[in-house]
Amino acid sequence: MSDFVSDTWHYYVLGLVVLSLIFCVWILASNMTRREKGPVTLHEHIWDETLQEYNHPLPRWWMFMFWGALVFAVGYLAVFPGLGAYQGYFGWSEVKQYQDEVKTTDAQIRPLYAKYAKQDLAAVAADPEAQAMGQRLFLTYCAQCHGSDAHGNKGFPNLTDNDWLYGGDPQTIETTITGGRNGAMPAWGPVLGTEGVKDVANYVRSLSGLANDSIRAQRGKDLFATNCVACHGPEGKGNQALGAPNLTDKVWLWGSSEATIIETVTKGRQNQMPVFKDFLGPEKIHLLAAYVVSLSKNQPSK
Ligand code: HEC
Ligand code: HEC
Repeated sequence: MSDFVSDTWHYYVLGLVVLSLIFCVWILASNMTRREKGPVTLHEHIWDETLQEYNHPLPRWWMFMFWGALVFAVGYLAVFPGLGAYQGYFGWSEVKQYQDEVKTTDAQIRPLYAKYAKQDLAAVAADPEAQAMGQRLFLTYCAQCHGSDAHGNKGFPNLTDNDWLYGGDPQTIETTITGGRNGAMPAWGPVLGTEGVKDVANYVRSLSGLANDSIRAQRGKDLFATNCVACHGPEGKGNQALGAPNLTDKVWLWGSSEATIIETVTKGRQNQMPVFKDFLGPEKIHLLAAYVVSLSKNQPSK
């Protein structure tokens, strides 16, 4: 397959290469002079008023190195690509070499993946070799958002704390990675107004025992009951089917300060866990899910 968009370029490159070779041959051939009989003479020209040059021919060994290089060039261009779109006798290409390497590696790794794909997630999670593979995959595909220790960051959930937006049983974790998730907290600023948002934020803080203005919290309680329970539940304990976080615990996705809660409630939050189904395929996802399961295995469940 040629990389050129039109044949012109093929002939252009080919012509350039051939002409350069012919040019080199001509230069070399025209300099293959022998030493003339008689005493060594000087050229007539004088450089810089003092520097003169003997009339010696170029050293033979040196010339033959150039001839050798030319012969090598012709041989090389016959077997490897270089003459425009001509692929060379071996038909070698970078792309093909890359594909061959991928194929070889796949063939080595596939049986390993296949072995784990057949096993139950809990069993895979307990296997140290699978954990090491899962960790490498995690560092490649997940660490940029969840952190290399999987502790997460603002807006990116901690995967080690056994507190789950969508659920922490192995099957749910696999579903999350496979299909991705969209966390959508609506913007309440326009509905509740500045004061309303502040009231409900104080009520939210009261749910987990954080310092709050009790009068505002009291007013916020009613606003919460009207506007928030549909997703966060009557007690604010959240709803994993919607990815609505539990607001009564110490774990915060965006932050627990009054200012942050006000920002969350006023503007809402749109959050996305990407879909990995096609990109990674079921075998890698299986290992990753097992790895995530293993991360929180020794934590008390919440
Ligand atoms: C582009 C950033 C990004 C990448 C890459 C990413 N995630 Fe996520 N992930 C998120 C976000 C954001 C959420 C939270 C979604 C929400 O709030 O609804 C999330 C949620 C999750 C959850 C659900 C947590 C819970 O509490 O229920 C799991 C499990 C998870 N990710 C695992 C992974 C794994 C495994 C990978 C690597 C294959 C990965 N993520 C790669 C951004 C990312
Ligand atoms: C349509 C469902 C829905 C409604 C209604 C809703 N929320 Fe949310 N809320 C969510 C979701 C989903 C998230 C998680 C967003 C994410 O994944 O980033 C969230 C996140 C939050 C957070 C951030 C929690 C954290 O850990 O940082 C707060 C605070 C919050 N909501 C308060 C409220 C309040 C107060 C109301 C009512 C005024 C409300 N929500 C109404 C779905 C909802």
